[in-house]
Amino acid sequence: MIFVPIQEILQGDYENKTVAIRGWIYRKREGKRTIFLVVRDSTGIIQSTIKSESSAWKDAEKITIESSLIMEGLVKKDSRAPGGYEIAAEKLSIIGLAELFPITKGKHRAGSDAEEKSEMDSEEHLRRLRHLWLRSLDMNHVMKVRGDVLAFARDFFKSRGFTEVSPPMFISAAVEGGSTLFGLKYFDQNLYLTQSSQLYLEILIYSLERVYCIAPSFRAEKSRTIRHLTEYWHMEAEWPFADMNDLMRFEEELMAHVCQRAAEHCKRDFEGLHADISKVASVKAPFPKITYSEAIDRLNAKGSSVNWGDDLGYDDEKTLADAFGQPFFIYDYPTKIKAFYCKTHRQRPEIAMSADLLVPRIGEISTGGVREDDKEMLTRRINEMGLKEEDYDWYLDLRRYGTVPHVGFGMGLERLLTWMLDLGNIIDSIPFPRTTRVFYP
Ligand code: 4AD
Ligand code: MG
Repeated sequence: MIFVPIQEILQGDYENKTVAIRGWIYRKREGKRTIFLVVRDSTGIIQSTIKSESSAWKDAEKITIESSLIMEGLVKKDSRAPGGYEIAAEKLSIIGLAELFPITKGKHRAGSDAEEKSEMDSEEHLRRLRHLWLRSLDMNHVMKVRGDVLAFARDFFKSRGFTEVSPPMFISAAVEGGSTLFGLKYFDQNLYLTQSSQLYLEILIYSLERVYCIAPSFRAEKSRTIRHLTEYWHMEAEWPFADMNDLMRFEEELMAHVCQRAAEHCKRDFEGLHADISKVASVKAPFPKITYSEAIDRLNAKGSSVNWGDDLGYDDEKTLADAFGQPFFIYDYPTKIKAFYCKTHRQRPEIAMSADLLVPRIGEISTGGVREDDKEMLTRRINEMGLKEEDYDWYLDLRRYGTVPHVGFGMGLERLLTWMLDLGNIIDSIPFPRTTRVFYP
């Protein structure tokens, strides 16, 4: 028996042919003489009918939501069926009969009526049952786009001559400041979970020049917002002989590439999620760019009391981003709100060569910049920030032996997806979210 993916049947190639499918029961409706079973596999859902005189009737009566099965039958065109095709089932075998599935219709069943949502579909309930909720059409769509976005990003990096590298997750010194650092006991040592792989990428540019990684980063982030996780996937890149303009150009081209490819290849998933595909289709480089000082002026003109030197909060970012209505950069931030590794303008040391990429509704989705390549300046910054010089001895070695101007950035994959797919909360962009309160299963 050759099994056909449901999506291929819906494309019309199997009309009036007998097919075999395998999957799970998505929906069931029983009439006196006909049972309607909607079957799902990884590619889609299709309706099937079983008539009372059929030998499959008994099993169709018995089968429950989320049971796994194999089915054979004749494909018919039927405009009333979701997707326009239906299988007149001739054979049905139950593989694994499911117990009463603890998620009812409602949200699990994309496109169903709001009234169908029950207590059993509350956010809290679905979170606890994440391992089962991941079978929903919504999560299936998100995970497909997520996989595709990773592939599109990798294609882009490869096309630009970057090598993918694998940095460590256990680290011995902070990258992004102590307040969001997760500490852990590592045998009899104190180590941390990495907040960013940047410093390790910086090591590797001396061998490979253009490097990137897509790896988890960890933040002991207590704020409960729509854009914070404690474990997220970080796309980070680093390369030598480059400046701020090269950096921003690369980031906007990466983002435009990913968005264009998603608009071409992920139409069904965007539709399934009711996400606005025209928004991603219209992402084209170059993006607007304003300095931090201009951002402050714009905010003050809108009535904000933010002062030059303040870090931009979520509300400030959102105000600016919503006005742009598209991805854009803010660059040249005050040195004092940026990390120790940021290079400063030599004539204006109060300004760091750092750039954030922002999008509407979410705000910041990436931070990047020029790295301090002078050993003395870097040592001074490490001390000024109250960090221990000895923790960064190996990092200073990079400036001792053949230092080179270089740039890099880190983009949060989940923030990117939350924006692309119009998701209400970042926790729905990752299969197993981790936040202060969510860590099961
Ligand atoms: O702005 P951040 O802290 O910058 C860095 O870590 C740099 N070392 C990156 C680099 O230059 N290689 O983090 C970078 C991005 C943010 O813009 C955001 O998209 C994401 O990582 N991010 C988070 N995403 C989800 N949850 C969190 N708690 C995040 N913290 C940062
Ligand atoms: Mg940042």
